[in-house]
Amino acid sequence: MIAADEVNGKILYQDTDHMFIWLGADPESASGVVQTNQYLIIDKGRGVLLDPGGIHLFARVVAVASRYIALDKIDAIFFSHQDPNVSSGIALWLGVTSAKIYVSSLWLRFLPHFGIVDQSRMVGIEEFGNTFKFGSGALLRFLPAHFLHSTGNYSAFDERSGILFSGDIGAAVFPAGKEQLFIDDFTAALPFIEPFHKRYMASNKVTSLWVRQVRELKPRLIAAQHGGVYRGDAVSAFLDWLGKLTCGIDTIESIYK
Ligand SMILES: [Fe+2]
Repeated sequence: MIAADEVNGKILYQDTDHMFIWLGADPESASGVVQTNQYLIIDKGRGVLLDPGGIHLFARVVAVASRYIALDKIDAIFFSHQDPNVSSGIALWLGVTSAKIYVSSLWLRFLPHFGIVDQSRMVGIEEFGNTFKFGSGALLRFLPAHFLHSTGNYSAFDERSGILFSGDIGAAVFPAGKEQLFIDDFTAALPFIEPFHKRYMASNKVTSLWVRQVRELKPRLIAAQHGGVYRGDAVSAFLDWLGKLTCGIDTIESIYK
């Protein structure tokens, strides 16, 4: 269960200049909607939002984010990919912040279908480059995560906190009432992780490539957009499992049976 004092967010990392914050639980998760997580990084008083979510979450995420930072100090919004649960709030966010949107170039012409979007505020990561620099000099690294599951997809590694935001990778679908913020016991959580990855992730070729680059970063936590935040031994246990997983087109005969 998500603890009562965690519903309105929890600071996952903090030093004098830099914070990484989980923005709380979606109350609808209790009614069978997949739990979604939003995150906010604050560095030198300026903010970056990670996958702030769809339209139905907007009011709650605004309320929780505002407890930590004024909305006009949010400079950037990262979308791991184009799914509506990640990005359908884009027009609302552009309206209440002056932030630029960082997303795979593959989706620049698709996201405006979620509302009126000023294209001059859209930044294609492929053209921008693989690092975003915060005011303190700390770096947010955009890691290729294409085909996991989206064709144009990125994870984001916050070097200073050692936290990897993995988007849909690592997603867990907990039963109603069993939601948890942290995943400490990977084996116990696996039944809620495996079905999604076996069907949505493209193939072992891609999962193993992603795992290889993530291992080099040695993340302290892996924060997914659905489900929980991997910590302790669960981080390496998850990477070991994902690197060997057969999924997607590896199992195409069973999908087309
Ligand atoms: Fe997705």
